[in-house]
Amino acid sequence: MTHSIRTVPTEAIDGQKPGTSGLRKKTAVFQTHHYLENFIQSIWNGIGGVQGKVLVLGGDGRHFNTQAAQVVLRMAAASGAKKVIVGERALLSTPAASNLIRKRGADGGIILSASHNPGGPEGDFGVKFNSANGGPASESVTAKIYEATRSLTEFHILESQDVGLTAPGTVMLGEMQIEIVDPVADYAEMMAGIFDFDAIRAMFRGGFRMRFDAMHAVTGPYAKAILEDTLGAGPGTVINGTPLPDFGDGHPDPNPIWAKTLMDEMMGDQAPDFGAASDGDGDRNMIVGRHCYVTPSDSLAVLAANATLVPAYAGGLKGVARSMPTSGAVDRVAEALGIDCYETPTGWKFFGNLLDAGRATLCGEESAGTGSDHVREKDGLWAVLFWLNVLARRDLPVADLMTEHWARYGRNFYSRHDYEGVDSDAANGLMDHVRDQLATLPGHSFAGMVVSRADEFAYDDPVDGSRSEGQGLRISFDGGARVVLRLSGTGTEGATLRVYLEKVETDPATFGTDAQQALAPVIAAAEEIAEIATRTGRTAPDVIT
Ligand code: G6P
Ligand code: ZN
Repeated sequence: MTHSIRTVPTEAIDGQKPGTSGLRKKTAVFQTHHYLENFIQSIWNGIGGVQGKVLVLGGDGRHFNTQAAQVVLRMAAASGAKKVIVGERALLSTPAASNLIRKRGADGGIILSASHNPGGPEGDFGVKFNSANGGPASESVTAKIYEATRSLTEFHILESQDVGLTAPGTVMLGEMQIEIVDPVADYAEMMAGIFDFDAIRAMFRGGFRMRFDAMHAVTGPYAKAILEDTLGAGPGTVINGTPLPDFGDGHPDPNPIWAKTLMDEMMGDQAPDFGAASDGDGDRNMIVGRHCYVTPSDSLAVLAANATLVPAYAGGLKGVARSMPTSGAVDRVAEALGIDCYETPTGWKFFGNLLDAGRATLCGEESAGTGSDHVREKDGLWAVLFWLNVLARRDLPVADLMTEHWARYGRNFYSRHDYEGVDSDAANGLMDHVRDQLATLPGHSFAGMVVSRADEFAYDDPVDGSRSEGQGLRISFDGGARVVLRLSGTGTEGATLRVYLEKVETDPATFGTDAQQALAPVIAAAEEIAEIATRTGRTAPDVIT
C-alpha cells in the first residue's frame, strides 16, 4: 500500500509549555484542531527531527490514548522515523517505557499520560517525551520543544488507516517499522532480576496477605502478572485491575485521600498484612501496612536503610537523592551509611544526571515517587516489590519495622497541604509576600519556633553544572522543623499551592502522635508567615497527604 505524506499548514498554539512532567491539559483541549499534532511536531523539531530514529510509544490507557497513539505513529512515519516500539493496545506504564527505551537502545519515547490526574472526556490528557537515557527530557530539551511550539507553521502526517495494535507482532507503516510488544513481559523480567522472588514467594506461601489497588489504571496487568501469577499472592490480591479510559471515574492518585477504600481496609479489623497502590501511569506508589500508613519520605528512608537485603543492591548504595520538599528522613540514613545524599528540585528529571553518573542509586520524592538506577523514572510496582523483599527478609510487620526505624534515626513528622484551583494572582501574590520576607525571617519566632534559615531553593546540577532557580521557598526552624511553599507545575486549572510541613522528633514517646497534631506549631507558623487563609480565601487545605 502506498501512503502519502501530508504537510499541513498550522499556526502556533499558545501555552504548549511542558510542566513538571510533560504537557498536561484537559482532554478536550488536546482534542481541539491540531493541538496534539502541533505538539508532536514540536517535539520532533525540538529534538532535531526523528529521521532514522527508533522510538518507544505507549500510554496509561486513558480516554484518547489509542487515538493519540495513532497520530503519533503517523507523524513519526511522516518524519522518517525508522521504527516505533509500541505497547499492545498502546499501553505501557511509564517505568516500563523507560525500561524499553534503555533495553532497546531507542533514541527516546513518547508516553501518553497525565499521570495521576483524572481521565475521561472531562478529565486530563498528557504527552511526555523521554530521552535516550529513558528519563524525562531535561529542562534544556523541553525548552527547545516549547520554543518549537511557538514558531510552528506546519506538521507532517502520513495518510493511512489506523494500525492494528491488539496483538504483538511487526507491521510496516509506510517505510517505518512498528513492533507491537507485550507491555508487561520485559518489565516483569527486569523485576525478577532485581528482587529475591524466592523469598517473596515463600512469604506468600506462608500466608502473608496483601492488597494492591491498581486504581483502574495501567498497573493492573503488571501487578496481576507479577504478584498473583509469578509470586503466588492469593487471587483477588489485585483490585481495580482492569485499565479503564476514565479510571472507573476515579482519581488515580495513590494517597490516603484517593485510595480511601484501600486505606479503610488497611485500618480495619480484617486488614491484610500489606497494602499498596499505584497511579495512572504506574510510576507512583503508596505503601501502607496493617494499621500503619508509611509516608513516601519515610518509605525512601526505610528502603535505603534496608537496601542490601535486595539482591540488586546487595553491594550497597552509591548515594541517595531526594527532592527538596521531601523530608530529611533519608538524609540521616545516608549519614549512617556514609554515602552522599543529594537534594534536587521537584521533578524526576533532576535525578537523571545523578543516576547516569553513578552518584545515586535510590531516589525519592514526597509526591509518592520512589525509584532507582534500574530505569530513569520513578517506579510504583518496583517500590512495592522492594517493600515485599524487605518484609520477606525481615519477617516483621510494617508497623514494627517503622517503630524500629524511628527508634534508630528519629521520626520526621511530615505532611503536605494542597490548596487546589486557587486564583493564580492570589497564589503568586502569596509567594511574593513570603519571598519578600525571606531575608528578614531568620531570628524571628513563629508559634514558639525560631527561624534559622530562609531562602528560595536553586539547584546547581553537580554533573552538568546547569542551574535551576525558583524551585520553592523554604523556611527552616531551630530543632529541624521546616516549611516549604511551592506552586505545583502539574495542575491544569488555576494554581495549586503546596505547603510542605516537617518536624523532627527523637523522643520515642512522641512517635505514636498523629502527624497533624505533631505538626500543629509548624502549620501555625506557615499560616502566620504566608497568610494562607486570607490570601487564598480557604480555611482548610483541599488535600492533606
Ligand atoms: C510529577 C513528577 C514528579 C513531581 C510531581 C509533583 O509526578 O513526575 O517528579 O514530584 O509531578 O509535581 P508538582 O509540580 O505538581 O508538585
Ligand atoms: Zn505518574
